[in-house]
Amino acid sequence: MHGSVDTEQAERLRAARAEAYATPLKDFHPGAPRHFRDDTLWPWFERLRAEAPVHYCTNAPIEPYWSVTKYHDIMNVDTHHEIFSSDSTLGGISIRDAPQGYDWPSFIAMDQPRHAEQRKTVSPMFTPEHLDELAVLIRQRAGQVLDALPNNETFNFVERVSIELTTQMLATLFDFPFNERRKLTRWSDVATALPKSGVVESEAQRRTEMSECATYFTRLWNERVNAAPRNDLISMMAHHDATRQMDHDNLIGNIILLIIGGNDTTRNTMTGSVLALHENPEQFRKLRDNPALIDSMVPEVIRWQTPLAHMRRTALCDTELGGKLIRKGERVVMWYVSGNRDDEAVEAPNAFIIDRARPRTHLSFGFGIHRCVGMRLAELQLKIVWEEMLKRFDHIQVVGEPRRVYSSFVRGYECLPVRLS
Ligand code: HEM
Repeated sequence: MHGSVDTEQAERLRAARAEAYATPLKDFHPGAPRHFRDDTLWPWFERLRAEAPVHYCTNAPIEPYWSVTKYHDIMNVDTHHEIFSSDSTLGGISIRDAPQGYDWPSFIAMDQPRHAEQRKTVSPMFTPEHLDELAVLIRQRAGQVLDALPNNETFNFVERVSIELTTQMLATLFDFPFNERRKLTRWSDVATALPKSGVVESEAQRRTEMSECATYFTRLWNERVNAAPRNDLISMMAHHDATRQMDHDNLIGNIILLIIGGNDTTRNTMTGSVLALHENPEQFRKLRDNPALIDSMVPEVIRWQTPLAHMRRTALCDTELGGKLIRKGERVVMWYVSGNRDDEAVEAPNAFIIDRARPRTHLSFGFGIHRCVGMRLAELQLKIVWEEMLKRFDHIQVVGEPRRVYSSFVRGYECLPVRLS
């Protein structure tokens, strides 16, 4: 990156540190999206971990919420689903309740037993045998996308590589018409965008676009529910007893879950891996000298990026956590992005080290019954894209500042200018 850009970011971080240490803890709102857009979240979470690891925010333009910022406290919440609910009717899984009219039920936002019944209908997609089959296709597509990139010219890595590869994968998972695949990217962006993010102009526009998504998938469902079972996510749900009779909102909710799950997260980790290696050239050298390190670099970059910064739960009863009393009905936000930088769980957590001894010690996929069902697929995609990148390019340079997403939920990038040779 250009020196001036690095300096600007260092200056922003210095200012954020001063602000985070001057602000009284009672005024902390760690979920403010600006911290994430500016990548200045770190000092806020560092101070919370040290001084108020279970913190109640009552001073924000959103409803009050608890922040859980240390690794083991987060595991505690994530593994006690009988106390901490994911249920969408109580508010669901992100810090803000879904706006009314968009709270389609999906199994990520359900409790037992419905959650497990619906989750198992799609899990055959992610078995090791099926992933071996998908690997061939993923490699072939990665090759095509990388071969088409301009040499020695600046381009947006997000658009040309990360979005393209993850969207192609999604089209395959749904057996979605391939030439219309960018609709999936758009629906994922629209479904997760905050009002001020610029993705949609108005709530009315969001409503229109999401109802197009619903109509499109209803058509695919109707085709497949009456046809012989096939190996795609829609058909898997259409032919399983637990989901065949789902009501329409539940169907659309699960589809949107699978679009978002398979899209933003892997996309942003792919982009993040380029940035992480750029910022850590000695790690890049290590990788070039020994490409087998891709295997441990992939989980490390998933920790380093933490593409979903948090998951939220709602307390089903009064309970105690870290010496604090959490009352029934209160919202509890598990900041994975902070737990992943907790030095009581991860050694030198702020460093990006591609050959860590235990790179899978991270919370990026969650923990407990909702742990990411697509995690092995995500890792496979990242592994293959790096194997193919190293075969083709000697230099991968980030040549401008990344533009980050305005959200404290999806931690990612809109743009990363890159030059390859
Ligand atoms: C759940 C992260 C890739 C589909 C989750 C959860 C996290 C997560 C944090 C929620 C865990 C919880 O509530 O405790 C990630 C990351 C990924 C990734 C970091 C990539 C680096 C994928 C992919 C797919 C996918 C590729 C599918 C194609 C899902 C689904 C759930 C889920 C369906 C809901 C599971 C449940 O409720 O049982 N993921 N994910 N994810 N993810 Fe992923």
